[in-house]
Amino acid sequence: MDVSKFIDAEKGLIKGEIFHSQEIYEEELEQVFARSWCFLAHDSMIPEPGDFMQNYIGEDPVLVVRQEDGSVKAFLNQCRHRGMRLCRADLGNAKNFMCSFHGWNYGIDGELINAPHSDQIYESLDPDVFRATQVRLANYKGFIFGTWDKTVADFEEYLGDFAWYFDAYVDRFEGGMEVVGVHKWVLPANWKFNAEQPSSDMYHGEVSHGSAFQVMVPLSAEGAPPPWAMEQLGKLSQPAGYQFTAPNGHGTGWFNGGMPLMDETILKWHQSTETEVSARLGADRFAIAGHANIFPTFMMLSNYTFRVTHPRGPDEMEIWAWSMAPKNAAAEVKEAIRLDLLRTFSPAGMFEQDDAVNWEEEQRIMRGHMARKKPLVYQQMLGRARYDADGLPGKTVPHVYAEEAARGMYQHYADLMSGKPWPDLEKLKKAREQRERAELAAAASPAPKAASGGSQ
Ligand code: FES
Ligand SMILES: [Fe+2]
Repeated sequence: MDVSKFIDAEKGLIKGEIFHSQEIYEEELEQVFARSWCFLAHDSMIPEPGDFMQNYIGEDPVLVVRQEDGSVKAFLNQCRHRGMRLCRADLGNAKNFMCSFHGWNYGIDGELINAPHSDQIYESLDPDVFRATQVRLANYKGFIFGTWDKTVADFEEYLGDFAWYFDAYVDRFEGGMEVVGVHKWVLPANWKFNAEQPSSDMYHGEVSHGSAFQVMVPLSAEGAPPPWAMEQLGKLSQPAGYQFTAPNGHGTGWFNGGMPLMDETILKWHQSTETEVSARLGADRFAIAGHANIFPTFMMLSNYTFRVTHPRGPDEMEIWAWSMAPKNAAAEVKEAIRLDLLRTFSPAGMFEQDDAVNWEEEQRIMRGHMARKKPLVYQQMLGRARYDADGLPGKTVPHVYAEEAARGMYQHYADLMSGKPWPDLEKLKKAREQRERAELAAAASPAPKAASGGSQ
């Protein structure tokens, strides 16, 4: 589908039709979700053989299962007989999966073991016909991603330069991360709002979350905020930082010195980890975590919220948000992180409710005719991107309030929606980057002197 009449990423102009149209949504399931790497599980969610959990790639339910040999397999959670949901539990441990409709029985690897009365009614149980549809998997530092697409690049290549930034969230500590809680809820808004915002929109925090920040500021006995809290709040009003965008639509942004932290226990613990994290990742990556999104819908925040947004039509998303914590952190730190997430980014969290109100209102307004006629303006820091600048890999802009990552995300979205095969998209993206790098190099080098005369 050609969505170029709605998206001009180079100029930063995007029409609201892409958030509203049912026709566009149906195409997204095929061109975006079925062709991207989607988050499915973390190792700590399914540690033992037979442990399983459900997740989704777009609207397709997927069962992710730890195998006897410790590897992981994932397959479409759909019985090959009449398409019933094969396993109806959210998570658990199983020796096999029996479909509750007619009793077909599958192994934990998705192979059909038996169908009742099969010796009398089927010629054979040909595995190519009867096997549950398998997902291609990748495990990046304990985070398991899956795709239906056999032609998309391997996961690390798909991440590109974003891997360097992703590590600032997931590879800070020896021992990695573990899950400490999960919330699931439904919002009446398009999935792209919760992809674009953690990629690109730090700008809303000062206004949308202003009152929540004020409420969360602790007060001393004299009724005044302590100096450490004022220092944290100051980051919002004097924003300095960066934003990064990747050719495959991933994005991240951060304040220099890190995100504001309003919980003293977490702040002190965070500061105490600087030596360890700097030794592991380099001092420059200690504070670059802010918010981020791996396209299409795996978003994360520096406070250890990791979430996936499942599309449920053009005007609904289902959010699954896991609270994670460094595995080797002290129990009281893990509990402080869990409680902080309850207060901030759970369905009842103060920041989460602020964001939800914005997205729901945007969605409602997109029903209007005029509301979708004129493009929305995504032009912050337009023309200010550089490559490999200030020690940061890839394409960045030197401001935390920017829309470079949103433009990058919608460029990639339009590329995918065009239906071009991945090898062609890769060539297109390479050519685009080469052109941008050449233009930047030409702009940076002094103009050649004008010729002073004709040939002799
Ligand atoms: S639908 Fe699963 S056994 Fe018939
Ligand atoms: Fe927000």
